[in-house]
Amino acid sequence: MNSPVDQHILHFQRRAEADDKVAALRKSLNEASHAPGYLYASQEIYALEKELIFMRDWLPIARVEEFPNIGDYRTFRIADEPIIVARDKDMQLQAFANRCAHRGVAVAEGSGNAKEFECPYHGWLYGLDGKLIGAGYMDQAAGFDRSNCRLKQIALREWQGWVFISFSADPMPFEQHIGPYEKELGFLRQDQLKLADKLVVEVNCNWKFPVENLMDNYHSRVLHRKTIGPTMGVERFKGVRTGSLAFTAYYPAKPMNRSGKSLFGMMPQLAQHPGADESFACSAHIAPWMHLFARCDNVHPFIMEPLGVDKVRITCYQLFPEQWQQQPGFREKLEQYNEFTLAVVNEDASVMESLHDAARSPRYEPGRLSRLELGVWNLINYNVDRVLGTGDTRLYTSEDKQG
Ligand code: FES
Ligand SMILES: [Fe+2]
Repeated sequence: MNSPVDQHILHFQRRAEADDKVAALRKSLNEASHAPGYLYASQEIYALEKELIFMRDWLPIARVEEFPNIGDYRTFRIADEPIIVARDKDMQLQAFANRCAHRGVAVAEGSGNAKEFECPYHGWLYGLDGKLIGAGYMDQAAGFDRSNCRLKQIALREWQGWVFISFSADPMPFEQHIGPYEKELGFLRQDQLKLADKLVVEVNCNWKFPVENLMDNYHSRVLHRKTIGPTMGVERFKGVRTGSLAFTAYYPAKPMNRSGKSLFGMMPQLAQHPGADESFACSAHIAPWMHLFARCDNVHPFIMEPLGVDKVRITCYQLFPEQWQQQPGFREKLEQYNEFTLAVVNEDASVMESLHDAARSPRYEPGRLSRLELGVWNLINYNVDRVLGTGDTRLYTSEDKQG
C-alpha cells in the first residue's frame, strides 16, 4: 500500500468510515440518504475514479461503422488519456496510445484516413497497427529494437457494433464483462443498426450525475412534463450484480418525436420479441458510463464521458436500421427525433449543474431517497464501492422494492 493511489484509497477509506453521511448512503433503500457532495466534487475522488474505474473497465467509446475503410482513424481523449483507434490493413480495429514512443508527442489529431502516423517532432513513423516502421538516426542507440517498439497497445473489443477499449494490461475477460448485457440486451441487435447522428451536449457537472439521472424514474413526470414525462411509467426494474452492474427497465413509452408516433414503424428485429409493440421502451445501464434507451423504432444510447471532475460530455448515438436510412426523407424525419431528444437532454442538463453546485458546498445536506430511486441508489453505492472499497454491496431488485 505504498503508491500514491493506495495512499489515497486508505485516506478516503478512513474518511469514509468516519463519515456518517457515507454510512447513511449505505443503509437499505428505505432508510438511506443521498451521497455526500465530496463524492461528486472532490478532485481526489475523481483521481481515484480514474485509476480504479476508467483505467480498469471496458469502456464503450465509438461505433464500428465510424471506421468503414482501411486507414480510417479517430483520436480520443478518454479520462485525460489520448488514444487513437484505427482500422488496420487487415480490416481489424486497433487502439493505441496517441503518444510517440520516443518522447510522448501526439502522432495524430482529429479524425481522417491515414496510411501511417508520423510524429511531428522527430519523425518516428508508425503503421496503422501502431507498430514502429521508421526512426531515423537510431542506429547507435545500444539495444534499441525497432521491432519491439510501438505506440502502446490498448485492448479493443467489439460488441453489437460498439467499440470497447480497456487501458488495463490485464482487463476482465471481455466475455465475462459483456455476458450479462448480451443476455439481457442482445435481442436489440444493435449490430443491425447504423449510426445516423450523434448529439453532443457538454454540461458543467460531475459525470456521475447524468449517469444516475438516466436511471432516475422519479424525475421523469416532473422535469419532463412537457416532453416524455406524461406517457412514461416504469413497470419493471431489474438489477443484476455481476462483475459490473447491469440495470434494466422495461416500460411503455412513445417514440422519440413530438408526434408520439413512429415515423418509420417497428425495427425488424423487434417483430419477433414477445410483447414488443409501438409502446415498447427499454432502458439499461452499461457500466461505467453508457446508458442505452430503446423505443420501437430506434436505439439511442448515451455515453457520459468525464472531462474532469466538474465537466462531462454527453453523446447520444442515434441508431436506426440501415435500410431506413436509405429511404428518401430520412434526414427530415431524423431531425424530428433529434430535436425532441435534445429537448429532453436539455431539460436534464438544466438541473445537472445545480446538483453539482450543491455537491460543491460544505453546507449541502443530502436528503432521503424515494423508492423510485432504486436504480440510482444501486448505482451510487456501486460506484462508492469501486472507489472506497467494499461496504454493503447488496443490490435491490424490484422484488425487494415491494417490501
Ligand atoms: S517525440 Fe516523436 S519522434 Fe521524437
Ligand atoms: Fe431525464
